Amino acid sequence: MSSKKRETRQFVVAITGASGSIYGLRLVRELLRAGERVSLILTSAGLQVLNHETGLAWSTDIKQQRHQVQEYFASIAVECLAVDNFWASAASGSAAADAMIVIPCSMGTVGRIAAGLSGNLLERAADVMLKERRPLVLVPRETPFNTIHLENLLRLSRAGAVVLPAMPAFYHAPETMDDLVDFVVGKALDQLDVAHSLFARWGENQD
Ligand SMILES: Cc1cc2nc3c(=O)[nH]c(=O)nc-3n(C[C@H](O)[C@H](O)[C@H](O)COP(=O)(O)O)c2cc1C
Repeated sequence: MSSKKRETRQFVVAITGASGSIYGLRLVRELLRAGERVSLILTSAGLQVLNHETGLAWSTDIKQQRHQVQEYFASIAVECLAVDNFWASAASGSAAADAMIVIPCSMGTVGRIAAGLSGNLLERAADVMLKERRPLVLVPRETPFNTIHLENLLRLSRAGAVVLPAMPAFYHAPETMDDLVDFVVGKALDQLDVAHSLFARWGENQD
């Protein structure tokens, strides 16, 4: 194991307006549990859908949101970045995070990253990860995909992103919604090289 791996790492986690904000929340919790630092970006739609799907009432005011998020995770290792804050370090290749994940990732954000628009901090940070050849994991959530979605995802995959759809498996005999969420989040953590025990691996715990 390299000395780099033993240091606390910095992850950018972005939650967009696709359904499934529970995946993003669960992932942040696991990163913090693993002792990592998290910069959290919520898009405007991401915040609305998150509040709708979880019953939380996180604020659009970034200072209040930071307070609410740190209280929710009981950690100050998570900071909230305003989606229009291009002055954040995540916007610069000279200070790029160790890895970035967009979970869940809307088709709108997929399209804008694929087009290289960098119109907000999320899109710029993703662009930075691709240009710096750092890990960028996208967890798209849409069904069915149209041809434009598929072409954009292919384009991003070719540019170096990992496309990890929110597609839980059933071979590990999930019993609860948490089991299904944990499977997707565990697969994402595998891509981020973060150890976890969210699901039993194939061949484990079998008589
Ligand atoms: C309740 C709700 C669920 C949504 N689910 C999805 C979804 O699963 N996938 C998707 O691509 N867009 C979904 N959308 C639409 C996006 O929120 C919308 O396209 C938005 O512009 C995305 O913006 P963002 O990428 O900046 O977050 C949903 C919207 C709402 C209100």
